[in-house]
Amino acid sequence: TKRKVVVTRQLIDEAQILLDAKREELEVVQWQSEKPCDRSWLLDNAKDATGILVMLSDKVDEELLEAAGSQLKAIASFSVGTDHVDRDALRKRKIRLGYTPTCLTDAVADLTIMLILMAQRRGGESIAKVMKGEWPQMPWHPLLMTGPQIRGSTVGFLGFGRIAQASLQRLLPFGIKRVIYLTSKPGQLAKEDHFGLIKDCAIPIEPAQSADRLAKESDVVVVGCALTSSTKHLVSTDFFNKMKKLAVIVNIARGPVIDTDALVKALDEEQIFGAGLDVIENEPNIQADHPILKQPRCVLVPHIGSATIETREQMAMESVKNLLAGLTGEPMVNEVELSSVTETPKY
Ligand code: GLV
Ligand code: GLV
Repeated sequence: TKRKVVVTRQLIDEAQILLDAKREELEVVQWQSEKPCDRSWLLDNAKDATGILVMLSDKVDEELLEAAGSQLKAIASFSVGTDHVDRDALRKRKIRLGYTPTCLTDAVADLTIMLILMAQRRGGESIAKVMKGEWPQMPWHPLLMTGPQIRGSTVGFLGFGRIAQASLQRLLPFGIKRVIYLTSKPGQLAKEDHFGLIKDCAIPIEPAQSADRLAKESDVVVVGCALTSSTKHLVSTDFFNKMKKLAVIVNIARGPVIDTDALVKALDEEQIFGAGLDVIENEPNIQADHPILKQPRCVLVPHIGSATIETREQMAMESVKNLLAGLTGEPMVNEVELSSVTETPKY
């Protein structure tokens, strides 16, 4: 009998072709709709699967692994983030986990710059007013829509991995003045210098001793850390209260790292200047009456960080390659190291 793989989306172009080419050896069961895969469909179809290719909206937990059965060898996630995956459960069962951390770096870093500039230069607020026909009531004025300038900013990164460092690379030509960062080991130098920027940078790049320090000193805060039990609500009222009044915060990581109620309050009370969010708690269930949407200084986009045509093609391709490698025991393009006990970072 053919081994079975389950894929929770239609894929694009080359990736779908690569998958379809395997139908002679594999039974490929694929979710057909544009909407996220139904949980019940996934649980039903996972039975007897050897590999499952999932989106970040599909939870990979004990329930799913149990439904699949002991022949399951690999999960391939179409994402860099893996907070939707129970890593301990995979480790226990010796199931491999593939992900796509490298091919989306440029796309997400680009969006980070967009959100920083939108937040500092009041892009969302400006566009909204013009589209509502309010420009005639707000003729050019020396102080119209003024915001802080990026040149001279101190940028604080919460999480200083690949995407953060690629964002830094883009920020340097804007003339930022200084960089501070916080990793899971506060005060320690970043483990990896992904683009050779940190060593010999023309501006100071320093690890922060604490989130407090980073909040106090940054003009721009970029949230780029993984979501874990210790980063959930890492940014809340205490953090906002320490931020500068003219500072902005951008989140390109996972919504729950920022406490949304605290953010709304900080914006209401003009504790900070603005925010740019690609992700938010409880996405995508953000209705028109959500309090964050009443905040003109917050620009919110619907989790589009990696949404360039090129990147999504590569993510699809890498996910399929990871899935197939997981079945045969070959090296994946990128595999999460599950062998060690998951380290709980302390911030
Ligand atoms: C996007 O958020 C991803 O994890 O790929
Ligand atoms: C702005 O448009 C200026 O001319 O300064």
